[in-house]
Amino acid sequence: MLIFLTLSFVRSLQQYEILIGNPQIIEYYQTSGIIIEQNLTSSVDMNLTTSPCQVVPQQLINQNLLQQSLPIIPQYKAEQFSQFFNDGQFSGLIPRIISFVNVGNDVVILTNSAELIYLQFFNETFVVADKINLNINLTILQYPVFMEIIQNQLIIIMYSDTIGLTLGAKAENIFEKSFRIYESFNTNKIMSVAVVNNMLFIAMGVGGLHIFQLNGQVLGSIDFQYSINNATDLKVFHQFDVYFIYLLDYDLGVASFIYNPKSTLIYKNEELGTIPFSGDIIDIYNNTMMIAHFQDQQTIIQEIKLNYSDFSWKQVNKHVINYIIVDIEILDHVAITLGQNGNTVIFHSIPSAFQIKQQRFIMPSLIKLNFIKTQGSLYLIGVSLHNFYFSKLELKQSYLYCYFEHEQQVELSYSHISECTKKETGICTYNQDYIIQSIKPIITTEQKYLVYLILFFVASAFISIVVVLIKEFRKYHRFVDNLEMNVQKSNEISMETFESPTKNFKYNQTKTHSSQFSIISNISRLHQVQ
Ligand SMILES: *[C@@H]1O[C@H](CO)[C@@H](O)[C@H](O)[C@H]1NC(C)=O
Ligand SMILES: *[C@@H]1O[C@H](CO)[C@@H](O)[C@H](O)[C@H]1NC(C)=O
Ligand SMILES: *[C@@H]1O[C@H](CO)[C@@H](O)[C@H](O)[C@H]1NC(C)=O
Ligand SMILES: *[C@@H]1O[C@H](CO)[C@@H](O)[C@H](O)[C@H]1NC(C)=O
Ligand SMILES: *[C@@H]1O[C@H](CO)[C@@H](O)[C@H](O)[C@H]1NC(C)=O
Ligand SMILES: *[C@@H]1O[C@H](CO)[C@@H](O)[C@H](O)[C@H]1NC(C)=O
Ligand SMILES: *[C@@H]1O[C@H](CO)[C@@H](O)[C@H](O)[C@H]1NC(C)=O
Repeated sequence: MLIFLTLSFVRSLQQYEILIGNPQIIEYYQTSGIIIEQNLTSSVDMNLTTSPCQVVPQQLINQNLLQQSLPIIPQYKAEQFSQFFNDGQFSGLIPRIISFVNVGNDVVILTNSAELIYLQFFNETFVVADKINLNINLTILQYPVFMEIIQNQLIIIMYSDTIGLTLGAKAENIFEKSFRIYESFNTNKIMSVAVVNNMLFIAMGVGGLHIFQLNGQVLGSIDFQYSINNATDLKVFHQFDVYFIYLLDYDLGVASFIYNPKSTLIYKNEELGTIPFSGDIIDIYNNTMMIAHFQDQQTIIQEIKLNYSDFSWKQVNKHVINYIIVDIEILDHVAITLGQNGNTVIFHSIPSAFQIKQQRFIMPSLIKLNFIKTQGSLYLIGVSLHNFYFSKLELKQSYLYCYFEHEQQVELSYSHISECTKKETGICTYNQDYIIQSIKPIITTEQKYLVYLILFFVASAFISIVVVLIKEFRKYHRFVDNLEMNVQKSNEISMETFESPTKNFKYNQTKTHSSQFSIISNISRLHQVQ
């Protein structure tokens, strides 16, 4: 028992030696979930902000955001600007993107010149695959437009005009045929649209909730009897052959309704009752619900956990963002909020006693945001007025790195708490101590020059020696030649073996050893002959 207790208090200690001037990652903190809190303390009295070792927190990386953009509408030049004015009157038709919708992993973009552009996701990038022009009165595109995919048909809800397009199988020829839908909307009044299967749900503010079913090319309306004050947003899920509708009322909060397509009856989900957080925007992902409410140029986001087995709910956290958001998308671990001048990443499902710092990133003047998931990768996609953006999102691990400028030894204690792996539940802790010592490189930069200098001298000395040797060699050779000439003038064969001195010399230069042998053999031959 005593031994167990002592063991559990022993923290593991790791020792490192790091070269000065060489940044090095000491450890990656691999956790299956989010790191909720991290502490790095130094046992020696030291200011950690100027410490050579720092912890880099987990980050949701959006890689090369601006490089991964596709200009949809060429940027117009100042001199062309006048063409958008009639008699000094602004014609209101500066080309721009209005909206986009996901078609599987691909995207359809609508511009205010009624052009539909099909972008195909291919080889980790997007390419323009098809384009058509809608035959409509362009003035209606000055009002809000909603695009939805309902069972292989693109439905475009415009002010007083609703159009459908059948989508084909080939990306290069995706827009097959268009048809008119005889149900028209005042899109100024539409707050939010949701589509599941062939059902279309529209939150109309004080106009309440409208439900339609698309049969062929006809939108059939379904009666909704419950009274609603001000329907601002909604989310719909299809499960167990019924539709669960979560409707956000600006005054009352969230109510849930169930639509049974067989009986065509709608009834209120009394088990859930009403979640009394009113607001402007709602999102639900798995059992996480977020309700955003605008207040004094801020957005207050309530984070709620739903339990679908008994439809109980619990408010677990509250997040404050310092600007008004346009949309919120919940993903695993994080929620991304879309604002006019930037986007914020909030970490969710964290015990409320903790708060992880929000992370911000900028996607310039984004007007709409969405996601695609392919082969385990998550891509954030969005449009600004003229560009289409996409970016891979991934949670990068936290790590400890050190960079020393001079000789030093630091003793560090690191600890973090994080979500546990799937097997265990709750909060897990991790502790690690380090002794990190900086060491001088074996050769410093100044020393390097000295070494070069020495090498240079050694090399020149070597070359001089070789040159001298060669000279001596030649002398010797000539001497031997002369000797032979004097001693053996009559023997022709031996004369042949002694080739011309120049030729022999050439040989010497390249293969010193063998040439030495040849000379030795020549000398021995000399003796033989003698
Ligand atoms: C640590 O150093 C930073 C920058 O030099 C300084 O702003 C901060 O006040 C210091 N903190 C402490 C606790 O000394
Ligand atoms: C995918 O893109 C990469 C880099 O852009 C390129 O090298 C590769 O050939 C492309 N593959 C296909 C199948 O187009
Ligand atoms: C487009 O609609 C506007 C407003 O309804 C109308 O004034 C205009 O004449 C229409 N333009 C065409 C070309 O039909
Ligand atoms: C309905 O909700 C919107 C916010 O989405 C608000 O601006 C508007 O004033 C509300 N209308 C009424 C009548 O409460
Ligand atoms: C929802 O949560 C459950 C259990 O935590 C998980 O098995 C499931 O994959 C999640 N669904 C989604 C869409 O993430
Ligand atoms: C959800 O509710 C059921 C029934 O009350 C309960 O057994 C279960 O533990 C709850 N789940 C969570 C995650 O609270
Ligand atoms: C980090 O330090 C604070 C203050 O010393 C402490 O309350 C907290 O428990 C520490 N967290 C971890 C994960 O060690």
